[in-house]
Amino acid sequence: MASDTTLNILLLGSGGREHALLKKLAESPHAGKLYVAPGNGGMYDLAEKVELDIESPEAVAEFASDHDIGLVVIGPEAPLVEGVADAVRAKNIPVFGPDKAAARLEGSKRFAKEIMQRAGVPTAKYKSFTDEQACLDYVQSIGGPCVVKADGLAAGKGVVVAQTTEEALQGVKNCFAGQFGQAGYTVVIEEMLQGPECSLLALSDGKALVSLATSQDHKRAYDGDRGPNTGGMGVYSPVPILLPGELDQMVSMEQKVIDELRSEGIPYTGCLYGGFMLTKGGPKVLEFNARFGDPETQVVLPRMRGDLVEAFLACDKGTLSPDMVSWDNDWAVSVVLTSAGYPGHYEVGKRIYGVKDADAMDGVFVHHAGTALDDEGNLVTAGGRVLDVTALAPTFEDARNRAYEACDKIWFEGKTYRHDIGIKAIKGREQL
Ligand code: AMP
Ligand code: GLY
Repeated sequence: MASDTTLNILLLGSGGREHALLKKLAESPHAGKLYVAPGNGGMYDLAEKVELDIESPEAVAEFASDHDIGLVVIGPEAPLVEGVADAVRAKNIPVFGPDKAAARLEGSKRFAKEIMQRAGVPTAKYKSFTDEQACLDYVQSIGGPCVVKADGLAAGKGVVVAQTTEEALQGVKNCFAGQFGQAGYTVVIEEMLQGPECSLLALSDGKALVSLATSQDHKRAYDGDRGPNTGGMGVYSPVPILLPGELDQMVSMEQKVIDELRSEGIPYTGCLYGGFMLTKGGPKVLEFNARFGDPETQVVLPRMRGDLVEAFLACDKGTLSPDMVSWDNDWAVSVVLTSAGYPGHYEVGKRIYGVKDADAMDGVFVHHAGTALDDEGNLVTAGGRVLDVTALAPTFEDARNRAYEACDKIWFEGKTYRHDIGIKAIKGREQL
């Protein structure tokens, strides 16, 4: 839908998160021509595919100025940490996403810890190391359980939640042996926290913070939270198990971080993603990400009312206000369909059937993640996380049932998924 003030938009990324962002951006009356780099098999009916090195600040900035782009939206963390937002801003083009300096909140766990400490934000106790022997000695002295984190970006694989001292020592050795490259040569050792997890996404213009809805990811590969960590196997929103006051505490912690960064001359604009653990002593921050969550975005944005283009431009201009965002009362549940073997080795190029049937169901939207179109235009698998089957409904049970019913309509060889997404919300806090 076009209005008098339309602008061309370039979206960077290729996951389910970007499909959710694209859908919401396309609904705005301000959306002109939409471009996506590189996108996936579900996105090219809404946006033109662009071949571009999305981690190259120069390449993105040049494309944006050559194509009269009025807003660049950065989905994943790597371009942010590389300084893509800085390069686009330098050309006076509005961009949604923090500059390189502020993106360190995700790009360096040690930096994030130091900011939290200075801002007085509750988080796990920690120590950081650049010397392997000193780190091993420390782990030996405190013993397991503890948590070992590679400082830099490690595609979600840089954290070992170690139950024993031996596991922790091995985690440290792997980091210093170069398992995560440069990202692992600084290591953060944390105390292990207990409790359910909750994600809180928020928009910020560097000063104001507008929180979005709560959501809960399911990171482990198999039912019952067993198996290896993944990018996320399913998610729901909102989180019904919060105790009174917990949401306000989480919002206040995020605001404190925005305030601290600003006072240090590092204004943070874009989406701030707080990962919290709801401990007996109140919510504590596990991590910050400098971008929308994946798959959290797939359940948060469909519930959001308001114009995403206006809100993103306001983040860039410093004019964000709470009335730009309001919420549907519906519940949202999203189940991730993966290729067999994920997060380990998996095959790609399998034909996908039934997405249209699933999409046609009331309240259902299938977000594409690892999909592509083959030479004949058929939809095929192209990644570990293939589709995020998202359903909205007035009750949690309905949303959950609809999502699983829609999953049954889709088929591809090796289709794998968790069957217990959302069970925690039904069981209640005391069962967790
Ligand atoms: P992070 O990337 O820092 O969020 O860590 C990934 C996952 O590891 C989190 O979602 C938690 O499940 C777990 N984790 C991280 N830090 C801790 C901690 N201090 N205590 C317990 N679990 C943690
Ligand atoms: N859902 C986890 C993440 O986006 O990092």
